[in-house]
Amino acid sequence: MLEKINQTVAFIKGKVTIEPEVGIILGTGLGGLVKEIEKQQALDYKDIPNFPISTVEGHTGRLIFGELGGKKVVAMQGRFHFYEGYDMKQVTFPVRVMKFLGIQYLFVSNASGGMNPAFEIGDLMIINDHINLMPNPLLGPNISELGPRFPDMHRAYDEKLIALAKKVAASNGTAIKEGCYVGTTGPTFETPKEYQYFRIIGGDAVGMSTVPEVIVARHMNIPVFAISIITDLGVPGKIIEVSHEDVQKIGNLSEQKMTRIMKDMLTQL
Ligand code: HPA
Repeated sequence: MLEKINQTVAFIKGKVTIEPEVGIILGTGLGGLVKEIEKQQALDYKDIPNFPISTVEGHTGRLIFGELGGKKVVAMQGRFHFYEGYDMKQVTFPVRVMKFLGIQYLFVSNASGGMNPAFEIGDLMIINDHINLMPNPLLGPNISELGPRFPDMHRAYDEKLIALAKKVAASNGTAIKEGCYVGTTGPTFETPKEYQYFRIIGGDAVGMSTVPEVIVARHMNIPVFAISIITDLGVPGKIIEVSHEDVQKIGNLSEQKMTRIMKDMLTQL
């Protein structure tokens, strides 16, 4: 694994002059933030050694380097999901690479289904905790050069970054929710009873990504900020049928608000 990471990092450093301070992973249909990145240098995943190739619709599959909010960033336009058939080491490999490229923060976005009855479709939710219902990406021998065998998960989502997100949201008049994200493998959406179960165990929203990347980032002690767009509701009485297309449509509408928050946060980091 270390050898692969070093090989990929050496390739990227040979192609790109920007040394990123912040890594950004963009969720389903949420690649619009990329338009705001200045002085872009981009690499297609298919050209990067050891990178898997994204298969899901709505994911372009590029690593974009540039400047956002005055910070040097590397953004993943399109991520790798466990449900696509990649193993967890592949899903999280780009996070390892971003760490070795020098990132000091990781920002993550996703789309999710809301279980909290106070949520509406289109809401933004700051993730302040998660419940992992996927295979853990750290299973197997630990590589001590990367992090500890038993990483702490008490503060998986950085409290200072959460406070900053709330501050910038308030100052630009964006309403924002906060809660716990339940990570499932997918690819099925939930049955009504599954939504109910996830609510009972403490979840506010459910989705099929993010948790593996966050676990791996925390393994390497990278502070994480994650934000979710509520694209559908698993609330009794409000449950409607969801499709991937619905998730993308709603995602696009709320994405501008999310982009603004991330950009303002970067400016103030
Ligand atoms: N469940 C799981 N993943 C999702 C959902 C959902 O309701 N909405 C968007 N991603």
